[in-house]
Order: sequence, then C-alpha cells, then structure tokens
Amino acid sequence: MRKDSPKIIHKVAELQKFALNARAKGKSIGLVPTMGALHDGHISLVLRSAKDNDICIVSIFVNPIQFGKNEDFDKYPRRLKIDAELCGAAGASVIFAPSASDMYPVPIQTLVRNFELEGLYCGAYRTGHFSGVLSVVAKLFNISLPKIAYFGEKDYQQLFLIKKMVFDLNFPVKIVGMPTIREKSGLARSSRNEYMTAEEREQAAAIYAGLKAARQKFENGTVSCAELKKIVKKYIENAGGKIQYVEIAKDSDLLSIKSAKITEPSVILVACFFGKTRLIDHIIIAD
Ligand code: PAJ
Repeated sequence: MRKDSPKIIHKVAELQKFALNARAKGKSIGLVPTMGALHDGHISLVLRSAKDNDICIVSIFVNPIQFGKNEDFDKYPRRLKIDAELCGAAGASVIFAPSASDMYPVPIQTLVRNFELEGLYCGAYRTGHFSGVLSVVAKLFNISLPKIAYFGEKDYQQLFLIKKMVFDLNFPVKIVGMPTIREKSGLARSSRNEYMTAEEREQAAAIYAGLKAARQKFENGTVSCAELKKIVKKYIENAGGKIQYVEIAKDSDLLSIKSAKITEPSVILVACFFGKTRLIDHIIIAD
C-alpha cells in the first residue's frame, strides 16, 4: 500500500490512457467513485481498494446530472486538496477530479436507466437521480477500467441499482459493497451531515435508533410492516425529524412487499429531514 501523495488527474482522456496502459501491463485497478468531502465512510472503501489492487483510483466528481433543480448541487462541499491528502494516506495512487465540462462537453443524450426501480423510494422524490448516478458510474467504469469497484451499503438503493446495471449490461467489473460507517451516536456518516447544526446532528441519531428498535421488534416476533414502519416514524418524529418515506422492500429484488407481513429477508428504507438536511438510512431484517 502506498502512503505518498497520489497523482491528481483532471482529464478524462489522460485517465483512460493511464488505465489502458496499466491494464496492458497486467495491473489490477480498484475504483472508488465519490463526490468528495470525504469522511471515514469513503476512506473505508479507499483502504479496501488499495489493499485489494495494484492501483487504487478515487474519483471525486460532484455529478450535476444526478441532482434535481432544487437540490444542493451548488452548496455541496468541495475541498479537493484535503480529500487528496486523505486518499493518499489511505493508499490511493490516483485521484480523478474531472471538470463537469470535461465529463459532459456537450449535453449527454445517452442515459442508463433502471425502468423498474428508478421511481421507487428515493427515486420517487428525486426524479432523474438514479439515471444520473448509473450513467456517471458507467462513464467512470469506461474511463478507469477497474477490475473491482467499491460502493457503500449506506446508499443501499444505489448499490443495488449499480449491481443490477453491471449484471444487465455485462460490465467486466466486480462490485464490492462495504458496511456503513457510523458516528458514535449511530448516525450514518455522510458528507451532508455537516449541513446540520450540532443539535440537529444529535437529534438525527434517532434514525438509526428507530431502525434498530424496529429490527428488535421484528426479532421478537412482530412481522407487521405497518407496525415496524410506525416504530421508525415515531423515533424520528419524536426527535424533531420530518419523514419523507419509510418503506419496507424485499432484499432480493428491492421491490415493495405486497402483503402486510414480512415473510422473507427485507430491508427497511428511510429518508427524512432534520432541519433542511435530507438523510437516508436502512436496516436489514432477516431471521
Ligand atoms: P458519495 O455520496 O460521495 O459516496 C461515495 C461512496 O461512499 C458511495 O459508494 C457511498 O455509498 C459511500 N459511502 C458514503 N457514506 C458512507 C458511509 N457512512 N459508510 C460507508 N460508505 C459510505 O454516492 C455517491 O457519492 C455518488 O452517487 C456516486 C456513486 C459517486 C456517483 O456520482
């Protein structure tokens, strides 16, 4: 694992050339796609990628096409220098930090879409978000030519859609999902946590507390979806949060559970607001 400063590449063509050369020499490439403002969650992926591969590429790109009109694209934190240092310390060899005009020199007309899942859960509230994510990830795969790419379970729906894209379109890339890294309070680490006040951040610990309480209730024999969802809602609302959705999906295909009861491994998915900050989390429930 290397610990010195990573090479920073800004140009698409330069990274693709670098990756083609590396692959021709038989080197394995691990890719960690990110939007920067890196924290321990991202770094856990970088550490793993650097350990598994000859070359670890971290992409840092706030992807405009996955943000809605009224979302936080403009205020999303950008700090390339600090991020590059963190990645270097974790063993990354290359940072890919393209400009939007290099990634999208003319408006993109070819998108990757999952017609079945793109409108569910987060997709119901963030029109176009998942096609924006899948399309940029497909581009990043074609530019960086990774053997393995690393994603967090934190964005559970995103991870599922990326795995499905790779399967459906035969990308020669292995997808590794990594566990969610949390703050001491249980709050999932997120670049967006820094939008919150100290008080909101404390209150937002209720999200994971509610999910764990629901899982406990399930383990104690409650299989009613309505009851389990009620627990999560109560925890979040009591802490001052505003629910966007709480849904329970089958873990196998991420489709909603049609019956009122849980009969197979499932996942509780939640999105809510503390103050103006939108947060997501999930928990698996299975016997
Ligand atoms: P971003 O939110 O920067 O996240 C980059 C990667 O880090 C994702 O795979 C995400 O799931 C993972 N991650 C974030 N928080 C984590 C945590 N607390 N524990 C473990 N992993 C965590 O997700 C994106 O960027 C973008 O949508 C992207 C895939 C880069 C496409 O633009």
